[in-house]
Amino acid sequence: MVSARGFGVDIGGSGIKAAPVDLRHGELLEERLRHTTPQPATPDAVAEVVSALVGRFGCREPIGITLPCVIKQGIACTAANVDPSWKGTDATALFTGTTGVAVVVLNDADAAGLAEMRFGAGQGRDGVVMLLTFGTGIGSSLFHDGELVPNTELGHLQVDGHDAEHRAAASVRETENLSWADWTRRVSRYLQMLEDLVWPDLIIVGGGVSRKADSWLPMLDCRTEVVPAALRNNAGIVGAAAAAAEGRTP
Ligand code: BGC
Repeated sequence: MVSARGFGVDIGGSGIKAAPVDLRHGELLEERLRHTTPQPATPDAVAEVVSALVGRFGCREPIGITLPCVIKQGIACTAANVDPSWKGTDATALFTGTTGVAVVVLNDADAAGLAEMRFGAGQGRDGVVMLLTFGTGIGSSLFHDGELVPNTELGHLQVDGHDAEHRAAASVRETENLSWADWTRRVSRYLQMLEDLVWPDLIIVGGGVSRKADSWLPMLDCRTEVVPAALRNNAGIVGAAAAAAEGRTP
């Protein structure tokens, strides 16, 4: 039987967040702790922060840990918005060694997707569901009848000759000072391409911009139903904890 208590760590470009999770309801059991991501965010520097956070909670259960990387059998295969030295790192061995507990490492968007499917906007939704997280980059996770197809990297789809995340990530709206209307036009173009290639039944949009859904969702131009994520900031932690409790190794 899957335990009711889990533990998740979400590693991002600016912060590393950790908390124990109630796996029955998909909620944090205690206020999460956040540590600024060390710079450069090398595997050793990040692992030190993770083990300090885990130690502060005195956690003994298996830990789920997210990275913004493709993860195959515990190994980070890409490093798009993190230190390049992650590429080829055995992340599972690294974190198990420093924390002293069993860990499951998975892609950050896959973790957020698992949380939304179990406890959020994707609950009870069969068919093809896609979650896109708009942040520094664009993360994606894909489900068919609730089953995850891990490591889709749809944020790197080429749209009109550009990597989609370089045109339509939330960070681009800020750096290029785009209005909501201009940014939403780019997102629409991206979603239209995804629709023609993947034909999802539902698209869940996550990341910081999901909190401001009223500013842009009504302007989206695509044929698929699009809804904001429900778990907001905690989706990565919750999904990672769920993956670890279920022993999911992507
Ligand atoms: C990475 C993905 C990650 C996404 C969101 C992309 O640049 O390639 O693996 O899920 O950013 O962090």
